Amino acid sequence: MNDSPSLSLTPDDFKNHRILKDGLFLVLALERPEGAVVCKIAKEDNSKVQREVDRICSLKERYSHLERWMPDFLGEGIIQGGVLEGHLFYLQNFISGPTLSQWLQQQTPANGNEDILATTRGVVSKLLDHVEDHTPIDSGRGWFDGMIHAALTRILEIPLVGDIARLPDVTVNGHVRRGLRNSIESVIDSPRFNTTIRENQAISELGHWNFHGENIILNPDLDDGFAIIDPDVSLNECDPIFGLARLLYTFPHDAAEQVAYLINSDLLMPKGDTIDSRFDVSFIWPEQTLENYRYLYRGIFDGKLPQIHSLDQRFSSDPSLWYRLEISLLLCLLRGVGINYRTHYPLNYGDMVHYQNEAVFLLLNAIELADMIVAGHDA
Ligand SMILES: Nc1ncnc2c1ncn2[C@@H]1O[C@H](COP(=O)(O)OP(=O)(O)O)[C@@H](O)[C@H]1O
Ligand SMILES: [Mg+2]
Repeated sequence: MNDSPSLSLTPDDFKNHRILKDGLFLVLALERPEGAVVCKIAKEDNSKVQREVDRICSLKERYSHLERWMPDFLGEGIIQGGVLEGHLFYLQNFISGPTLSQWLQQQTPANGNEDILATTRGVVSKLLDHVEDHTPIDSGRGWFDGMIHAALTRILEIPLVGDIARLPDVTVNGHVRRGLRNSIESVIDSPRFNTTIRENQAISELGHWNFHGENIILNPDLDDGFAIIDPDVSLNECDPIFGLARLLYTFPHDAAEQVAYLINSDLLMPKGDTIDSRFDVSFIWPEQTLENYRYLYRGIFDGKLPQIHSLDQRFSSDPSLWYRLEISLLLCLLRGVGINYRTHYPLNYGDMVHYQNEAVFLLLNAIELADMIVAGHDA
């Protein structure tokens, strides 16, 4: 618990409200006499908002970088009246500007790739400064093994998705990849995982862990040109570089959330126990949008690892940092499959072989990445 100020909102505060996001939380922009604020309201579970408030206060206290980047925290309170009566909310000052994701989706060639590269590079290198500010804890040994195994176990339990993960190999957009279960075993059994991840653990017990493109707001008037919101309170201990992996995860996440991908395979065909191991993934976004995201993520686009190492020289000079980032990105994708699984497979293209499903899409990304990490070991 923290000792943040207790607030109450009046009916006037909601007069000019704007909905920023209606998901697990209701996030509103409100006009108040002292300036625009953002009100984040629990829709189901007050405890998650309480944990978020506590985390925001602890992060601001502990990390001077984050303190500078995070919006001012104005206090928390309980909604009075209406359908959300009794629900917890907190207020922060409103930061104007697009999120990094919105910005990447809007950029046109006229703005130039230079602009995208410079912005992405600036955000990455500042976040990396913050990552280096963490102190590892002793009990972190085995953390990644445990998390990866738990995420894989969850995937294997999911109908159809688990069957894809069990295939010995999978062809994604013409690239033959090792099956997920096999490559994860190879990754975890590799000497590199043992020395870099297991023996040199870098697990920390307080972090944001969630530097995703929708949680980064760009505004050139701010000290560092951006603000950070929305820590992930579902994780307590974690490798701080996982937060940066979330930035790479922005592309698969945004493509999944906006249903900007289309899968072509016979997964849904009534063929008994057999499924074909060939999957083709295409994107509905314009080529320029895909091009803009390529600075953060390549993977399923063209069978290459993200090129983030070209964004900060610390990745080239310290290969273990790069490897921790790859493993964290893999964990991000694996967790994403389990968390985002829905039984719904919309068929909007007139046949049973073109479909959309977030878990399958993220799984194919995970298969590609895991295979590329193993290939890196073999090389
Ligand atoms: N302080 C803020 N200033 C401006 N926009 C914000 C602010 N906080 C949240 N938003 C907008 O609302 C969206 C959702 O808020 P967020 O806290 O990330 O909720 P969620 O946990 O549902 O992702 C963000 O992606 C951003 O577009
Ligand atoms: Mg968010």
